[in-house]
Amino acid sequence: MGLGACLLGLLALFTAVKCSYSPEPDQQRTLPRGWVTLGRVDPEEELSLTFALKQQNLGRLSELVQAVSDPSSPQYGKYLTLEDVAELVRPTPLTLHTVQKWLLAAGARDCHSVTTQDFLTCWLTVRQAELLLPGAEFHRYVGGPEETHVVRSPHPYQLPEALAPHVDFVGGLHRFPQISSLRQRPVPQEAGTVGLHLGVTPSVIRQRYNLTAQDVGSGTTNNSQACAQFLEQYFHNSDLAEFMRLFGSKFAHQASVARVVGKQGRGRAGIEASLDVEYLMSAGANISTWVYSSPGRHEAQEPFLQWLLLLSNESALPHVHTVSYGDDEDSLSSTYIQRVNTELMKAAARGLTLLFASGDTGAGCWSVSGRHKFRPSFPASSPYVTTVGGTSFQNPFLVTNEIVDYITCSLERGFSADCRDEAVAQFLKSSPHLPPSSYFNASGRAYPDVAALSDGYWVVSNSVPIPWVSGTSASTPVFGGILSLINEQRILNGRPPLGFLNPRLYQQHGAGLFDVIHGCHESCLNEEVEGQGFCSGPGWDPVTGWGTPNFPALLKTLLNP
Ligand SMILES: *[C@@H]1O[C@H](CO)[C@@H](O)[C@H](O)[C@H]1NC(C)=O
Ligand SMILES: *[C@@H]1O[C@H](CO)[C@@H](O)[C@H](O)[C@H]1NC(C)=O
Ligand SMILES: *[C@@H]1O[C@H](CO)[C@@H](O)[C@H](O)[C@H]1NC(C)=O
Ligand SMILES: *[C@@H]1O[C@H](CO)[C@@H](O)[C@H](O)[C@H]1NC(C)=O
Ligand SMILES: *[C@@H]1O[C@H](CO)[C@@H](O)[C@H](O)[C@H]1NC(C)=O
Repeated sequence: MGLGACLLGLLALFTAVKCSYSPEPDQQRTLPRGWVTLGRVDPEEELSLTFALKQQNLGRLSELVQAVSDPSSPQYGKYLTLEDVAELVRPTPLTLHTVQKWLLAAGARDCHSVTTQDFLTCWLTVRQAELLLPGAEFHRYVGGPEETHVVRSPHPYQLPEALAPHVDFVGGLHRFPQISSLRQRPVPQEAGTVGLHLGVTPSVIRQRYNLTAQDVGSGTTNNSQACAQFLEQYFHNSDLAEFMRLFGSKFAHQASVARVVGKQGRGRAGIEASLDVEYLMSAGANISTWVYSSPGRHEAQEPFLQWLLLLSNESALPHVHTVSYGDDEDSLSSTYIQRVNTELMKAAARGLTLLFASGDTGAGCWSVSGRHKFRPSFPASSPYVTTVGGTSFQNPFLVTNEIVDYITCSLERGFSADCRDEAVAQFLKSSPHLPPSSYFNASGRAYPDVAALSDGYWVVSNSVPIPWVSGTSASTPVFGGILSLINEQRILNGRPPLGFLNPRLYQQHGAGLFDVIHGCHESCLNEEVEGQGFCSGPGWDPVTGWGTPNFPALLKTLLNP
């Protein structure tokens, strides 16, 4: 960017030779489909931007995550408190001082920090923000199913070179809100006649995963679970009540959400939001449930980033979080991905279990210089979360074996070699058919880790029962609820909650799960792929992970230590 802008932003505070740099040069800035520009924002309008400050001791944090999540470690289950994490990663006094001074000089007001002190959100006018971040130019956009307004910059921003050791990135400039990929499918045709179920309901889930009427929260622990949603969508407690009236008579359950964090508007309910709450509270039945609802309500905030800030600002959180959200990994800057990975590590160190939907487009697909490749979704591809894929019943009308749903997962870029290596290597060695190696990076993180039914769900939304809703947004809360039931038993037995599950899951080779062995995902096909993508098989595979839950067996293997 121009030197002039650079000098203006710096004043006399910083005098480096090359005075500014771009912290996120690889961040995609093209306007996503379905959004249109409303033009430049008035210079006097106010913005709320988020500054990610450089943290300390990240190597130590990574070791601690491994130690507290590895059942063979003496540290297993000895989770850090939020205050311990803050002690570890808090920015240096020099970083805090430098960034504060820089922001104050620019006229930033009303800055709020979090317990770990590694984020700041501040208010600035557009004029001040454009001077502070040379290159940035704030425009207003409208889009998405709810005609949401956001403020973003179509041009990259720069930071003074002197801030490079102190700031990772500035949030609120480029990343657009997500659009739900949940689908309603046509009713399958080949209906049989005996023992029919007409779509997936809580009883079908509870039957398939061997949950009995006793497998519910006892109400005597401080156990809780949460789902987070980032679309401009709401759930209605009245829909939950109607859903439970229709489908919840056979198991004890809670009548309403215990806590809504964020804004719960009065708008129409969204199917995605209704689905998350209804199935989390049916699988993890009778367990106190929180909903994170569209955090990041200001136009210049990124809802997912605001959710991460909320996690770093509250010491008592639910043990299990399910999140049906993801971006194409290739659209995100590596600085952002690394920082989000660190945030997910902070959660893992505290013993939070974070489950992400693997995404609903198979392994994904994109074309790079005319050649197809799989397209991973992030944070599903983060090594610090448990990623949930989807299955469907072999016979769509019977509680039968599960097969691959056509929407699951992939092997991809990934950021750390870890516990998955052995399972992945085994898969790559033994699978009779693999897509061309140019489609994926065989040394990356592979997902999903586990799976559950994701096809043909009933949901109540805006008082109307809706059939055949499908997506990994459905399997993720189901798996989450089941882990909450296991936490319940662990807590009753004086054990800590499960925390980050993957090290244990891979060590135990998916014990306690139904191995899904039939089906291939079929996305991203062209003449090179000859009709199929990755296929499921015995053991771990990149379509259904280790498989789907068999509650009594899973409880047995995860109850101790
Ligand atoms: C974090 O929590 C504190 C205390 O509740 C609050 O004052 C502050 O505004 C919060 N920070 C953010 C970024 O919201
Ligand atoms: C769980 O249910 C399946 C049938 O759905 C049955 O085959 C299996 O034996 C059950 N497993 C346990 C551990 O109860
Ligand atoms: C469900 O939870 C309530 C407290 O929230 C408790 O009183 C009740 O006993 C629980 N039901 C079962 C079947 O454990
Ligand atoms: C656990 O219980 C305490 C005190 O009753 C409450 O303040 C806290 O919010 C609960 N924690 C969760 C995660 O529900
Ligand atoms: C493949 O993944 C490895 C491990 O994460 C990484 O070091 C490497 O850069 C990746 N290769 C490509 C071409 O993305």
